[in-house]
Amino acid sequence: MEVLDCIQGRRSVRKFSDKKVEYNTIVDLIKIGTYAPTAQMREPWGFVIIQDKEEMKRLSDMAKIDILNRIDELPQFKNYEKFFSDPNFNIFYEAENLLVVYGDTTTRWYKEDCSALAENIILAAFSQNIGTCWIGFSKDLFDSKEFKEKYNIPDSYESVSTLILGYMNFVPNPPKRREPIIFSRGK
Ligand SMILES: Cc1cc2nc3c(=O)[nH]c(=O)nc-3n(C[C@H](O)[C@H](O)[C@H](O)COP(=O)(O)O)c2cc1C
Repeated sequence: MEVLDCIQGRRSVRKFSDKKVEYNTIVDLIKIGTYAPTAQMREPWGFVIIQDKEEMKRLSDMAKIDILNRIDELPQFKNYEKFFSDPNFNIFYEAENLLVVYGDTTTRWYKEDCSALAENIILAAFSQNIGTCWIGFSKDLFDSKEFKEKYNIPDSYESVSTLILGYMNFVPNPPKRREPIIFSRGK
């Protein structure tokens, strides 16, 4: 697939085919991701891979309860309150594969580095007919003490990106993007 077609054709995918994504396929995507630029070549990342639908449902329920309990402190989630209250809403959309990218907070640019890696993974996956969707709703859960202890994540790491993954049956049409604002053209 041509790079520009990959960038312009990619969409967030929330519905997947039944075809299994192998663990090693996800590891290969991570390895491709690591070709991202990183400040001072620190490569400040670590990963959690979950391929267990029941565990993902449990985590989704925990994230929803946590958000609902704090909804007044989280104005950006207010619009989604009815989804979080719906027992049938799974924040991971019934996906079977979850990848959490953690960044080493002792480095200055871990958020930028890990986001660059995540986008590489998203595009590499798309080029192999694997759809992804970045899930922000679970961030606080993945930074919680309980989760980090259970999944062996060092204290100094923070979750930067969470991706659900699965083979695609179809790709939604790319939406129109807003014209970018060029603040200045300089002299
Ligand atoms: C940081 C971040 C957090 C996101 N969180 C969620 C999420 O929790 N749930 C969801 O369905 N989509 C989430 N998305 C996906 C966006 O909704 C999606 O990228 C946007 O609507 C543009 O659509 P497209 O990716 O298909 O071009 C997130 C995207 C980013 C970059």
